Amino acid sequence: MIVIEASILSADFARLGEQAREAEAAGVEAIQVDVMDGRFVPNITFGAGVVRALRPLVKVTLDVHLMIVEPERHLEAFAKAGADRLILHQEACPHLHRALQSIRELKMETGVALNPSTPPDALEEVLDLTDLVQVMTVNPGWGGQAFIHSQLEKIRDLKRILDKGEHSTRIAVDGGIDTNTAPLVVDAGATVLVAGSSIYNDKASVADNVAALRSSVV
Ligand code: DX5
Repeated sequence: MIVIEASILSADFARLGEQAREAEAAGVEAIQVDVMDGRFVPNITFGAGVVRALRPLVKVTLDVHLMIVEPERHLEAFAKAGADRLILHQEACPHLHRALQSIRELKMETGVALNPSTPPDALEEVLDLTDLVQVMTVNPGWGGQAFIHSQLEKIRDLKRILDKGEHSTRIAVDGGIDTNTAPLVVDAGATVLVAGSSIYNDKASVADNVAALRSSVV
């Protein structure tokens, strides 16, 4: 089953609650909240307060993508705010094994994101603690960027590693996912599609954009 996550990075920040509910009504299985600190990535977005504000408005999974340094300092705050999953960047976590253990102890799902330059075997020692691996198909920091096609082979490599180790870890992709690139990443082994600007834009409604994305991978 293919899961679609709406990234609110491209939503109207003046109407975040409404836009999250629109995506839920359109049938997305999760909302991805892109947290940026201006250090791990150049951009700054929002923190646990936005998760706290969204929690009572939607029932779908709140998936928090932490594009921040020292993410282990903030795990409890996002757990208290109502996050269902925390995605850490492998590149930001020298003690990734311990950080993933801490997320599980806080009763959330675990995710690890890999920047385009990071190989999938960097995670081999933590896959038993990882519910989802998010392959970045753009360099993180902004929405609306072009899809990096070289990551398709990385998705295939990651799928081979997961299958060999009989891990139930899911593969998510994030960055430049639209009706053209979605079939490519699903064919490579991804089952979770994170999309921002192809869902939130002025070309069509959120509902129509989600429907188009969903039908591009059936
Ligand atoms: C990193 C962010 C974006 C966002 C999706 O920059 O994580 O990838 O979620 O952006 P789009 O779908 O607009 O490329």
